[in-house]
Amino acid sequence: MGINGISLENKEKKAHIPVLVNEVLGWLVWKPKGRFLDCTVGLGGHSDAILERAGPEARLIGCDRDAEVLEMSRARLHRWGSRVHLVHAHYRDLWSHVETIGEQPFDGILFDLGVSSIQLDDAQRGFSFQTEGPLDMRMDRTQTQTAADLVNKLPEQELADLFYRFGEERYSRRIARAIARVRTEFPLLTTSQLVEVVRRAVPRAYRHGRIHCVTRTFQALRIAVNCELDDLGASLTQAASRLSPGGRVCVIAFHSLEDRIVKQTFRHLASGVNPVLSLLTKKPVMASESECDSNPRARSAKLRVAERQRSEDDGRSA
Ligand SMILES: C[S@@+](CC[C@H](N)C(=O)[O-])C[C@H]1O[C@@H](n2cnc3c(N)ncnc32)[C@H](O)[C@@H]1O
Repeated sequence: MGINGISLENKEKKAHIPVLVNEVLGWLVWKPKGRFLDCTVGLGGHSDAILERAGPEARLIGCDRDAEVLEMSRARLHRWGSRVHLVHAHYRDLWSHVETIGEQPFDGILFDLGVSSIQLDDAQRGFSFQTEGPLDMRMDRTQTQTAADLVNKLPEQELADLFYRFGEERYSRRIARAIARVRTEFPLLTTSQLVEVVRRAVPRAYRHGRIHCVTRTFQALRIAVNCELDDLGASLTQAASRLSPGGRVCVIAFHSLEDRIVKQTFRHLASGVNPVLSLLTKKPVMASESECDSNPRARSAKLRVAERQRSEDDGRSA
């Protein structure tokens, strides 16, 4: 039985469809017998496909900060036996585990950022404004701070800055003011309470815009609760240093703030006198129309790929 009385089997039935799988395989699985690292293993969709493509001697380490999701990927990847090693960790803290396991250097490293459909669709996790649930939004439930803590405790000005910075929300001040007013009467504890406050705070026309008027507020809270942007650049730098010569790192980002960090970090690592990486995608790779039709989540996905420089010696021995 999983958390909140929902069985893991029931949750597994709701699929998370991995995005840009063929593109990722094309870049990442460039060598048979490869060693791979999936820093955000999720439901194991990409990992499973990598092992399938890479042949019988390939090995993979998968990491996720969400213990419940990791158990689901354990069930899915069970068929690969000892060729798969799973780690419950923030990818920031993954590197000491990697050293203990002793699989490096890696021929391919994947970051498929954000949350999975399984997390979004579980009302009890509080990620979605479309379902009634607690204002939680923690990917790692051992962490103490929830979205409700931020909404009820942050000073109004800091809340406004958060909505503006992480949600690029143009009505950030109005929304923060409305929250500050309401919480003097009662604490905001559920997704639907927050939706109602935001809806009332924004202009009528904005309520009926192309994207739902609370999308940006929820995105901002999720990024803040999980400190999603804090360690990405440093973790990509770590990943680059763990690649074999010619090894590749693929990153899929789902919003512009994440993608900017990926772009800037790759550029930095690919510049200077002794660059570590060379860029394989000058512009991000996007999903095809047909993939977006069958999986709307793919619409905002941006894939960037870089390769570890081969020194002259590496080039001769490759
Ligand atoms: C988009 S899903 C990955 C889906 C996966 N590629 C698949 O095919 O099933 C992103 C996953 O990354 C995890 N995650 C997000 N940030 C993380 C971090 N800093 N460290 C480790 N895992 C993280 C989330 O818990 C989620 O399960």
